[in-house]
Amino acid sequence: MGLRSEQWYAGDDRNAYIHRAWMRRGTPDDAFRRPQIAIANSASDLTPCNAHLNEVAQSVSNGVYEAGGNPLNLPVVSLGETNVRPTAMLWRNMAAMAAEEMLRANPVDGVVLLGGCDKTIPALLMAAASVDVPAVVLPGGPMLTGTFRGTPLGCGTDVWRLSEEVRAGTLSQEAFNRSESAMIRSRGHCNTMGTASTMALVAEALGTVVPGVAGTPAPDSRLLEASHGTGKLVVELVEKDRRPSTFLTKASFHNAIVALAAIGGSTNAVVHLLAIAGRLGVDLTLDDFDRVGSGVPLLVDLQPAGRFLMEDFHRAGGLLAVLREVRDLLDPEGVTVTGRPLVEHLDDAPIWDPEVIRTRTEPIITEGGIAVLRGNLAPSGALIKPAAASAHLLQHRGRAVVFDSIEDFHARVDDPDLDVDADSVLVLRGCGPRGYPGMPEVSNMPLPKKLLEQGVRDMVRICDGRMSGTAYGTVVLHVAPEAAAGGPLGLVRTGDVIVLDVANRRIDVEAPDFLQRSPSTAMAEAFAAPKRGWERLYVDHVLGADTGADLDFLLGSSGSEVTRESH
Ligand code: FES
Repeated sequence: MGLRSEQWYAGDDRNAYIHRAWMRRGTPDDAFRRPQIAIANSASDLTPCNAHLNEVAQSVSNGVYEAGGNPLNLPVVSLGETNVRPTAMLWRNMAAMAAEEMLRANPVDGVVLLGGCDKTIPALLMAAASVDVPAVVLPGGPMLTGTFRGTPLGCGTDVWRLSEEVRAGTLSQEAFNRSESAMIRSRGHCNTMGTASTMALVAEALGTVVPGVAGTPAPDSRLLEASHGTGKLVVELVEKDRRPSTFLTKASFHNAIVALAAIGGSTNAVVHLLAIAGRLGVDLTLDDFDRVGSGVPLLVDLQPAGRFLMEDFHRAGGLLAVLREVRDLLDPEGVTVTGRPLVEHLDDAPIWDPEVIRTRTEPIITEGGIAVLRGNLAPSGALIKPAAASAHLLQHRGRAVVFDSIEDFHARVDDPDLDVDADSVLVLRGCGPRGYPGMPEVSNMPLPKKLLEQGVRDMVRICDGRMSGTAYGTVVLHVAPEAAAGGPLGLVRTGDVIVLDVANRRIDVEAPDFLQRSPSTAMAEAFAAPKRGWERLYVDHVLGADTGADLDFLLGSSGSEVTRESH
């Protein structure tokens, strides 16, 4: 089979002339006969976690050329989690759509996907899955561990912890400000088992990263070596026509879910994996995460729930060492970009530090994973990550204290007169994909100040939004259907008794008339429907969190063919 790019470059007609001539600019003639490899590069000064990817791209480029390809830098929409308003998740589908269309529109035979910060790898994988050109993910890697007053700082996780300490009066504002410059020590993405680390590792378990590469710290010279190798590999992928649809199967997603549970990864991976599966037509459901993942032992002792950070994880053996411990739980049919099954890459993957990566016989928790809850509050499902929750709250009855928007929450949570105690259940709605819009990471609501001062450090919280992968607490999130889409979360009233029963996977409101009520008018008033632009398109078409929060018209694949020509 010929190269896709031959449709642009082969032949002697006027169109081929135009395609080649404008690309020449010193390019040798034989470059047009090489596989054209796009380096989908999410480097941006406004995405600090990905700012180093230009250097990574150069190593990829060298590898591509050495293997006989023609490397082409393709800047893509970049999303910096800490900067982008109102929330980076609003733009994930836009980034995916833009990358998809640019890969399809251009003479591209294969692509290396350079991501790092939370949404960048999911968006690029969604794009590559829909275009279905040979693709390999290259994660930019986590940053090195920073320390403050001799203590390691987990970026993200320790921001929550330190800011709660300031609110509780146990840390001075001055010390808090000083910790700021210690938190981010080097290039790279967040160094906890947050969403960026999770998605890099899950992408490797899925088979889309060269095994052993994900988790390599961004400043580690081995990342550049791996980048060179990834560049060489993608040329092979093109030669063998190893497209995403040829190896990303249900078995691959099974392995990704096992990995997600064993590493104690972010709940955000659920919504991203569902969206990627939706682009491939793989029948993955929310319940697969509980069915496959809940029996998997948690083996990795990383923040936010544990002690260590990604630099330690890499030193301890990385993902392959984890997966070797749960090899029997993996699907041997799951294949990787190397063409070999994932399980074949696990033979030489020892654990070097059993404090960071536990052995199967000494897990942190025997049954990790993410629990999927259902009940009259979440008929289409909701998630809880038991490993990040307080054990004593996993079975709980409490009185609801309801907030109709994040603004309502901020306005009232620290009111000394707020009728709330340690047993209350904080409910926040209007934060789903449609309601916010964009499903922000607000589900781990800060606790009321007066309870913090009493020493309370965790409460049951329920929300239709997401939670930062660097956060922790007893949080029921991704409640579906979301309140703004008519879900029963919009019917809860302050004072209702809510029953959380994680063992039986239930989340219910104890009120006989619950489902007969009218939705909260305050919540409806808080929803300002966007009138134009991407937000309007998003609100009109976004699907629920339980299926990946993709746009309805982006599901599935359109392939790589474009038959029309403008010249
Ligand atoms: Fe970029 Fe955390 S802010 S990975």
